Amino acid sequence: MAAVSNAPPRHVAIVMDGNGRWAQRRHLPRIAGHKKGVDALKRVVKLCVARGIGVLTVFAFSSENWNRPEEEVSGLMELLALALAREVKPLAEEGVRLRFIGDRNNLSQRLKDGLSQAEQATASNERLLLNVCFNYGGRWDVVQAARQLADTGQEITESALSSMLATAHCGDPDLLIRTGGEMRLSNFLLWQAAYAELFFSATLWPDFDEADLDAAIQAFGARERRFGLTSAQLLTGAAG
Ligand code: IPE
Ligand code: IPE
Ligand code: MG
Repeated sequence: MAAVSNAPPRHVAIVMDGNGRWAQRRHLPRIAGHKKGVDALKRVVKLCVARGIGVLTVFAFSSENWNRPEEEVSGLMELLALALAREVKPLAEEGVRLRFIGDRNNLSQRLKDGLSQAEQATASNERLLLNVCFNYGGRWDVVQAARQLADTGQEITESALSSMLATAHCGDPDLLIRTGGEMRLSNFLLWQAAYAELFFSATLWPDFDEADLDAAIQAFGARERRFGLTSAQLLTGAAG
């Protein structure tokens, strides 16, 4: 049988985990790890542009992360504000379109304005779509989609529900990477990851580099994506 060789993933999603441990190993405050995490994201965005990946969706702050110590939560809010002030322009210059995904209700007015401005300023860019999931949870997403669907009175089907999800503009991820060694989704893209290829990397997110990304893309290339079919069906292209 021929070795599997998939085209590179169109849509890559990443749970950027391990910032806290990266800092603690260096006897630094956890927020220092989150700052390095922003640098890692900038690096990975550039690599994705270079690799021709169309969509990158990253998990930056979960619905459950509010339960962390007050100091860490406020530090993360500050870091988002700082990144909005500093990084939108260079990202726009690289052709990146930014979208923020998640519940904005609990965010400060300043942050809400910053997110909308960043989206507007980059709306016409087409090189890479970068979805930043902030105050996002997969369960929140399914519930908000179900609510919208109920309001429209439409028939409840998989495609109707998908069209109301926060990722309706970009579809489902092909490859989902989690860094930091944990092997769980932690409430990320629960519906959308139904057929994503999963890749777990032991590298802590601030250290995630070109070799780590390429290892994930290479592993993806060798996976047989069967979507419920048999290998024989895939080979002959005769489904059903
Ligand atoms: C991921 O890194 C970033 C956020 C959840 C905001 P962590 O802060 O979870 O890092 P670890 O898992 O504690 O090392
Ligand atoms: C998932 O990481 C959320 C983000 C990376 C933003 P967590 O560190 O919050 O996940 P758990 O708590 O280890 O499951
Ligand atoms: Mg973590």
